[in-house]
Amino acid sequence: MDRNERTMDFPPEVMAELRARVTPFALRAYPEPEPLYQKLAEWLGVARDQLLLSSGADGALRSVFETYVEPGEEVVAAAPSYAMYPVYCALTDAKLKEIPFDANLSLPIDRITEAVDDNTKLVVLANPNQPIERVYTDSEITALLETCQQHKTLLVMDEAYFPFGQGSALPWIKRSPYLVVIRSFSKAFGLAGVRLGYMASHSENIKQLHKVRAMYEAHSLGMAFGLYLLEHEEIMTDYVAQVRQALAWLKKALEGMGLEALGQWTNSVLIPLPPELDGHKVAGALKTQGFWVRAEKKPPLDNHLRITVGPPEQAQRLIAAFKNLLAKPQEALS
Ligand SMILES: Cc1ncc(COP(=O)(O)O)c(C=O)c1O
Repeated sequence: MDRNERTMDFPPEVMAELRARVTPFALRAYPEPEPLYQKLAEWLGVARDQLLLSSGADGALRSVFETYVEPGEEVVAAAPSYAMYPVYCALTDAKLKEIPFDANLSLPIDRITEAVDDNTKLVVLANPNQPIERVYTDSEITALLETCQQHKTLLVMDEAYFPFGQGSALPWIKRSPYLVVIRSFSKAFGLAGVRLGYMASHSENIKQLHKVRAMYEAHSLGMAFGLYLLEHEEIMTDYVAQVRQALAWLKKALEGMGLEALGQWTNSVLIPLPPELDGHKVAGALKTQGFWVRAEKKPPLDNHLRITVGPPEQAQRLIAAFKNLLAKPQEALS
């Protein structure tokens, strides 16, 4: 519960369907991506040439950096955000301009738009952001995109948590060539292990991005599983509904224990701990009971726990373990 993966197994009948796609042909032949492209284009309501599959959202991010960023160019990103943005900046020798969240965990949009100038090559934002949840509204996306267009800057909206998250920048790809939307099959679709994601953008950008892609942009099995889950969307929507329900329950239960719980649009909660509880020690104690959670320590997240939310019964077991822990003498946790 520390990496925002799907934390429950697929039901046996879904596993049987997925296994049935592991055919001898799927293993020995090179991948055939067209069926997934066709289905994805239809599902998203975009043209086939506005899409490019990738090895997870991460592979998409890497391609965008490799395609557009030259050494010394500037990249604007919120901080803290997804840990790989600084890594891809370092990989491409870009200058990272980090826009920090306030101590109260807010980040006004003006702070980002004002940071964009003619030297900015990319603005990379996770929507919703993680580990501090920040959702960019439609009007904020419009304003950001306008600013990016003025400076010929590419706006990259990382929607790894779609559709846990609210809204999407996808409709703007039809209006602007300065936008790339990145999505993942790792989160709501629960396929983190097979590394499948995609980019959606103006067809000219997709043409450019094609130039740095590997010979095959995704694996046969990942694509077969992704296609099956798109054809049976209810597996994903049912899981998202379970997470939403568990998240609401978890927040109430934590509040009942005198703890705050932040976040609503991903599959995780962020818990600011009181000073008498040390995040690392609490995380260590929960680990001994079988719950791996993440202790965040870097400002402005000093002493916060981040916990991936799964189905309701898992949330109930976590709260029971947490209560058990807090009932014990607190010296061990402070
Ligand atoms: C905001 C964000 N973007 C991208 C990713 C990477 O997703 P993928 O597994 O599709 O590479 C993550 C994974 O945690 C994430 O939180």
